[in-house]
Amino acid sequence: MASFNNFVLLILLTIALILVPEAAQGRRRRVIPSGEQKKELERQLKAINEPAIKSFKTQQGDILDCIDIHKQLAFDHHLLKNQSVQLKPTSVPEWITSNKISRKVDPLQLLQEGINCPEGTVIVKRTTMQDLMHAKRLKSMGFDGPRHFITDRNNNDSTGQFYVATVNYGPSSFSGVKGHLNLWDPQVSQDQISLAFMAVAGGPKEQFASIFVGWMVNPSLYQLSEDHVRLYTYWSVSFELPIEGSMSGCYDITCPGFVQVSKTIPLGALLQPISVYNGTQYDISLSLYQDRVKGDWWFSYHEENVGYWPASLFMARGFANRANYASWGGQVYSPVTEKTPVMGSGNWPSEGLSKVAYVNSIKIIDHLGNVLDPEIDSLKARETSSKCYKAMYIHEEDKDIWRRALYYGGPAGCIGE
Ligand SMILES: *[C@@H]1O[C@H](CO)[C@@H](O)[C@H](O)[C@H]1NC(C)=O
Ligand SMILES: *[C@@H]1O[C@H](CO)[C@@H](O)[C@H](O)[C@H]1NC(C)=O
Ligand SMILES: *[C@@H]1O[C@H](CO)[C@@H](O)[C@H](O)[C@H]1NC(C)=O
Repeated sequence: MASFNNFVLLILLTIALILVPEAAQGRRRRVIPSGEQKKELERQLKAINEPAIKSFKTQQGDILDCIDIHKQLAFDHHLLKNQSVQLKPTSVPEWITSNKISRKVDPLQLLQEGINCPEGTVIVKRTTMQDLMHAKRLKSMGFDGPRHFITDRNNNDSTGQFYVATVNYGPSSFSGVKGHLNLWDPQVSQDQISLAFMAVAGGPKEQFASIFVGWMVNPSLYQLSEDHVRLYTYWSVSFELPIEGSMSGCYDITCPGFVQVSKTIPLGALLQPISVYNGTQYDISLSLYQDRVKGDWWFSYHEENVGYWPASLFMARGFANRANYASWGGQVYSPVTEKTPVMGSGNWPSEGLSKVAYVNSIKIIDHLGNVLDPEIDSLKARETSSKCYKAMYIHEEDKDIWRRALYYGGPAGCIGE
């Protein structure tokens, strides 16, 4: 069984994998490909971007394609060849949908008016050349051995500073998680990342798998300059952690693996509106749960199924059967040469509701599909460095959505300890 440290390592590694190549390149962020490279990238883009039946350009400049559901990128994965699309899970957890105490105002509108995909298609954000170059750099980079920032003190290595403030669950055995994450728009520099996530992980050490979902501000992954906060997913299977090993997986759909079923919720979508300091809070409701018959891992956004990671991506007796760890909270990354960015709203947990970033309605889904409040003591707050970012575990038995919750975050400018 993988140790808890592996999971923490993985959380940090998720960021490390995207960023290390960036750090290595210093300030030269936008790599301009040579003519030769450009041709190659164009060829690959053609392979990734399946032919669109219909396309839309958003006000922000994203291109959203409607793709034949049976011809999406996922099925290029060698483990998914010949699989048919699972239009919905064979087992659905007993959802707790009534959220009477929720202060949510409007459901978040992901698509502009007039953007709608026809029956039999799914909506995906088109991959651009910049997206691809970014993904390539990651891959070529690989994983350069054990990291030493997995313990509480060591959050620093030669490539960057990594911080998390979370509540964690496990080791245990369960088949899904839920949570509501309020939205903020932390300012970051070109080289930094700030994100909020919910994650599950599990499987044996030889094939430790994880899935992350949440929102992210990451200028190098999402090129648009003005708007920042995007829905993201990340999955990975890492072989032989914590020893040097190979990994598969990626963000959103920059590689084959995730099977999209939704016509209305594209991964990478811009999220708005953002919560207002001392004002209205907007949050997104996310779930990750396993189809009990098939073993597929489903992602749902506000109770709508977005899609799934098929069980065959994971080892049969491992993550395809259960999860062992869960985590909710915030993460930031910064190159060592810069001060760290804001996490969450930039305010400390002690400032309280409507000022701080939160995750509430934290739930565990058991093997029978029941949605449960985790035992009070089964959740543990964790901070990489409490001087920089804090995690405050909230459990108020008499308040529905605050029965298990987290306040987390902190201001920019931490210089380590
Ligand atoms: C996929 O299906 C084709 C046609 O039915 C078959 O020839 C091929 O062997 C199958 N491949 C796999 C990996 O099952
Ligand atoms: C927050 O809002 C309340 C009520 O609108 C107001 O009285 C208070 O001064 C505000 N606090 C801050 C810190 O802005
Ligand atoms: C972090 O690492 C950088 C470069 O390796 C070093 O200059 C800096 O002093 C380190 N900071 C801490 C807090 O250890």
